Amino acid sequence: MTLFRGTFLDTPDGDAPGSIRLRADTDAGLLVTDGTIVERGRFVDVAARHPEEDVVDLSAGLVLPGLIDTHVHYPQVRSIGALGMPLLDWLEKSALPEEARLEDPGYANGAATDFVRGLVSAGTTTALVFGAHFAPAVENLFDEAERVGLRVTAGLVVSDRALPEPLLTTAERAYEESLTLAKRWHDRGRLRYAVTPRFSLSASAAVLDACAAVLTEVPGAWFTTHANENTAEVAQVARLFPEARDYIDTYDRHGLLGPQSVIAHNVHATDPELSMLSDRGASVAHCPTSNCALGSGLFDLRRHVDHGVRVALGSDVGAGTGFGLFKEGLQAYFVQQLHGDRGLPLSAPDLLHLATRAGALALGQSEVVGDLSVGKAFDAVWVRPRAGDPLDVGLRHAASAEDALAKIFAMACGSDVVGVWVGGDRLESA
Ligand code: GUN
Ligand code: ZN
Repeated sequence: MTLFRGTFLDTPDGDAPGSIRLRADTDAGLLVTDGTIVERGRFVDVAARHPEEDVVDLSAGLVLPGLIDTHVHYPQVRSIGALGMPLLDWLEKSALPEEARLEDPGYANGAATDFVRGLVSAGTTTALVFGAHFAPAVENLFDEAERVGLRVTAGLVVSDRALPEPLLTTAERAYEESLTLAKRWHDRGRLRYAVTPRFSLSASAAVLDACAAVLTEVPGAWFTTHANENTAEVAQVARLFPEARDYIDTYDRHGLLGPQSVIAHNVHATDPELSMLSDRGASVAHCPTSNCALGSGLFDLRRHVDHGVRVALGSDVGAGTGFGLFKEGLQAYFVQQLHGDRGLPLSAPDLLHLATRAGALALGQSEVVGDLSVGKAFDAVWVRPRAGDPLDVGLRHAASAEDALAKIFAMACGSDVVGVWVGGDRLESA
């Protein structure tokens, strides 16, 4: 058993941003056995009950639940930062040529290492990852996530039109390769499989049917894709699926939406689409730096919450500008500030919720991760800025725990993350 000592901040209750309460325990003790928190209280009390246990002292700085990224692209780790283009141009000129490079096994192997290191060094402990179009490259991702010890849900990205030829597959091959990967990796340790058509712009009805077949064959598999990100994309999807009521319906009519679905972006959703997502219990990954970098639009968080659609955060690397979920939280806050009457003002606890527990809810993992309550896994991030840095100064002068948390979202970056744990194990590359 290990006794972790520190100031722990988390958001164990509440399901939607807008009124999230912060739990802040100063000089607390969390007793961890086999990766699970079994006791929590004042450090002096827990230590008195367990005087023989090893103490890991995290008192300098603050400890948060491990961050949860619900939308991030593994094959784009090396192309982050291509600015100045809207979605379809950016895909053509930056993202897709880079993704084609993962056909080379050596390149994919290196990208998998870079990618997993990027997640860990940002304090991300759980992620729903958009994989690659090549099955061996997806193997590289699972191998590396398993070696490092991250919680990753991912899958083969499938498409049969509108992309460069090397990225295309057929419905039959998509089914076979996805199933083979899922059989090997789904529910193996901290890994799970996600059925992943890129978007209905690049996936015919036959490929979407193949995706539905894999979901049926693999109980507990997740489903993820993109929708309603950019107006030109939405118009093209409407032309490709004249029979569908709207973009969300292109997935629903193939039986792909349910509580295990996470739809990325959804910036231009109509009310019927939000109602459908809510009815199905599907979640939305909000990707604020990506939406701003590609000029996709201002996310209607309030409308999602009002419709009862679950929303969590995604970095959307590489359209998003990095792995940091503090930065995504801050950008989410900025967007709501700038969205006039349609904006939902966000507090620091709302941002922490979006970056942790909301992700756990969207990924169906809230029994295990998302907060630091007894019974949960010890997945944690230790934030400790260098002495004298503006964040360190801010934290030392913070008026309250909530104020300290706001300063973390405003200023923290990867170098402030000095320790990352998953299931009680400290990860190496943090
Ligand atoms: N839509 C289809 N593919 C992508 C992608 O790679 N990134 C983003 N942001 N949107 C997409
Ligand atoms: Zn994406």
